[in-house]
Order: sequence, then structure tokens, then C-alpha cells
Amino acid sequence: KMNKQLELIKSSIKSIPNYPKEGIIFRDITSLVETPAAFKATIDLIVAQYKDKGITKVIGTESRGFIFGAPVALALDIPFVLVRKPGKLPRETIAQSYQLEYGQDTLEIHTDSIQSGDNVLIIDDLLATGGTVEATVKLVERLGGEVKNAAFVINLPELGGKQRLRNLGVTPFSLVNFE
Ligand code: PRP
Ligand code: ADE
Repeated sequence: KMNKQLELIKSSIKSIPNYPKEGIIFRDITSLVETPAAFKATIDLIVAQYKDKGITKVIGTESRGFIFGAPVALALDIPFVLVRKPGKLPRETIAQSYQLEYGQDTLEIHTDSIQSGDNVLIIDDLLATGGTVEATVKLVERLGGEVKNAAFVINLPELGGKQRLRNLGVTPFSLVNFE
């Protein structure tokens, strides 16, 4: 049975059928971050999972990953690194393309954001196919870092993202499932 914090988090997420396309149920975290107790519980549970685990950097993926990644990095007192959509980062970058549940896109990172020996935690609002995280893992590895962990507020188990991440050597963690 789910505990009170997880029930608050799950009940604060709205579900919108057929957005952005027919057949997709969009799991909307805007209502979660407009509910302070739910937002705080989300950050506290993720931080508790990674305290004293040797994580050296947190990556948040644009754009909803920024909302959850930045407060976790602050609480762990380690750098917060932005992985962004193309053309948004001003200094030297590398790029990686990936498939989405509903489309295709590219992600970029500053080349000086990761060093060899970094133990990176990726944070995003939602795990669907795992394509976003796979692209981010490739960016980190090309810069000599390692991604052992990835954390999500929401997992969509039917899309198999957790197995895809395990196959990459990444241990996934999520707070709530939506079938
Ligand atoms: C969504 C979501 C995750 C990703 C999950 O982001 O926030 O980042 O898709 O899907 P995946 O596991 O199949 O890769 P989106 O690209 O829609 O960008 P946004 O956060 O800017 O809305
Ligand atoms: N990103 C990918 N799939 C999604 C979904 N079903 N709801 C919200 N964000 C998503």
C-alpha cells in the first residue's frame, strides 16, 4: 500500500486524454508543483534516496527535468547541469538525437559540464520509453562521466523504460506509476 506522501503526489498529478495527440494520456505535473506539500514531498523523497550515495552532479533535462532536478541538486549540495534542446546552450556543446513517445528530438550539453570520474544522477518528471535518458547517458559517457542512477516522479511501466535503462547500466527510481 502507498504511503500518505506518495498518495498526495499521485493525486496532485492531472491526466489529460488525447494530448498532445490522439491516444496519449498526458500526465501533467503543473498541478503537482502548484501544490506546495506535494512538491516538497517529491523533492524530499528523491533527496532521501541519494543522500550519501557518492553522486557528484545532477542533470536535469529540458524542460520539466529542470523543475525537479534543480532543488534536488541544491539539497545534495552538488552542481546542477542543464541538458537542453538544440541551440539553447551558448558555449561549446555536443548533441545527441533520440526518439520520443510522440516524436523525435535532439539534446545538447556543454562539453565542460562533465569530467571523467563524475557519478551523475539524471532527474526528469516522467519516464516513458527512456529515449530522453538514453540520449542523456550517451552525452555524459562521451564526456567521460558515468550515469549509475536516474530518478523520476512518474513512471509509465507499459512503455518499458525501466528495462531499457537497466540495459544501459542505469538503476531507475520512480515515485508513482500510471498504467
Ligand atoms: C517529456 C518528459 C520526459 C520525456 C519522457 O519531455 O518530460 O523528458 O518526455 O519520454 P521518454 O522517456 O520516452 O523519452 P518532452 O520532450 O515532452 O519535453 P518538455 O519537458 O520540454 O515538455
Ligand atoms: N512525456 C512522454 N509521454 C508523456 C505522457 N504520457 N505524459 C506527460 N509527459 C510525457
